Amino acid sequence: MASSIPSAPSALNCQRYVGLRAPPRSFKFTLPQAATNSRSPRLFVVRASDSEFEAAVVAGNVPPAPPVPPKPAAPVGTPVVPSLPLHRRPRRNRKSPALRSAFQETSISPANFVYPLFIHEGEEDTPIGAMPGCYRLGWRHGLVEEVTKARDVGVNSVVLFPKIPDALKSPTGDEAYNENGLVPRTIRLLKDKYPDLVIYTDVALDPYSSDGHDGIVREDGVIMNDETVHQLCKQAVAQAQAGADVVSPSDMMDGRVGALRAALDAEGFQHVSIMSYTAKYASSFYGPFREALDSNPRFGDKKTYQMNPANYREALTEMREDESEGADILLVKPGLPYLDIIRLLRDNSPLPIAAYQVSGEYAMIKAAGALKMIDEEKVMMESLMCLRRAGADIILTYSALQAARCLCGEKR
Ligand code: PBG
Repeated sequence: MASSIPSAPSALNCQRYVGLRAPPRSFKFTLPQAATNSRSPRLFVVRASDSEFEAAVVAGNVPPAPPVPPKPAAPVGTPVVPSLPLHRRPRRNRKSPALRSAFQETSISPANFVYPLFIHEGEEDTPIGAMPGCYRLGWRHGLVEEVTKARDVGVNSVVLFPKIPDALKSPTGDEAYNENGLVPRTIRLLKDKYPDLVIYTDVALDPYSSDGHDGIVREDGVIMNDETVHQLCKQAVAQAQAGADVVSPSDMMDGRVGALRAALDAEGFQHVSIMSYTAKYASSFYGPFREALDSNPRFGDKKTYQMNPANYREALTEMREDESEGADILLVKPGLPYLDIIRLLRDNSPLPIAAYQVSGEYAMIKAAGALKMIDEEKVMMESLMCLRRAGADIILTYSALQAARCLCGEKR
């Protein structure tokens, strides 16, 4: 007598289960009066109705439901084998999009990005050859527009890299602490427009050095450590004075974090953070960046201060120094080829970890994408996720705007 049971609608329709429809005829009792018209005795009605349905099932009147789906056919020629006696099949947890997203271990959001921006004195935005999609932005207009776009999709942190006119470069890089220099001026402009924007600055002499090095170069080619740190302190204080939130020494001089902390505190900038480039390697992945800023070393390389790419344990030495000197954030650079270093710092320090997806990494993805060798956006998003998975809290990436748009579901 299954036909006497009302069949369940495919979409759950509560009305049908609270007795507003006539009960199946095969049932003897009638519903209480109240149940047909109003709400108060609903509970009672539900119970009564449920027991009717239960009784029907017990009596063998099982309501119809869709049949068990047939087993999907395998292609002709598929070998017939006994199933493997596995008690764990990890693919079960990857079966559907819902399961996969339920078990996703790592997430990424625009709040994790810091957007590096190149600025110059001009009014035009000048494309950077080896970094498609990146420009030297005019500090007064192009930059502000780019920051506005980034904020629209949740990227509220930027780091500034200035292209300094050759005439202002010198062996001691004194333009680095000019209060009216390009960087302090730009910080003031941005803070005036967007007081809650988080501004990171680069602390190093290379954009200002006529030698293209991060420090002062002695006659014999030696990069002078303590004298450079003295300059960096003046640079960081000038940036803090202008309103920088986080100063980021990328120079790799010894002792600069402690010296910067002391200098900032002495000037009343206790609230300004230090993001230390803790493990910055002497990497060939920086090529496009140096083109962007015209900051290639005029001679030699940076191997006496940046780390040897072959070294792992050395990152711990740098980490310990930076922690004890008061760094607030530890940065690893480059990013993707150095995931082991990111994980090393993540596992050994409670401090936030930053990863820098550098210009060469960006250029490779863009170039391969332009040649249709890879799906640019997917590879980029995967790279960023992998940096997070390795342990990075924040990621400095030239793709910040594009990636954030992608995360916000915007297509360009
Ligand atoms: C220099 C600096 C460099 C980068 C950031 N800050 C280049 C270098 O060390 O020569 C590289 C960033 C990139 O390649 O994206 N202080």
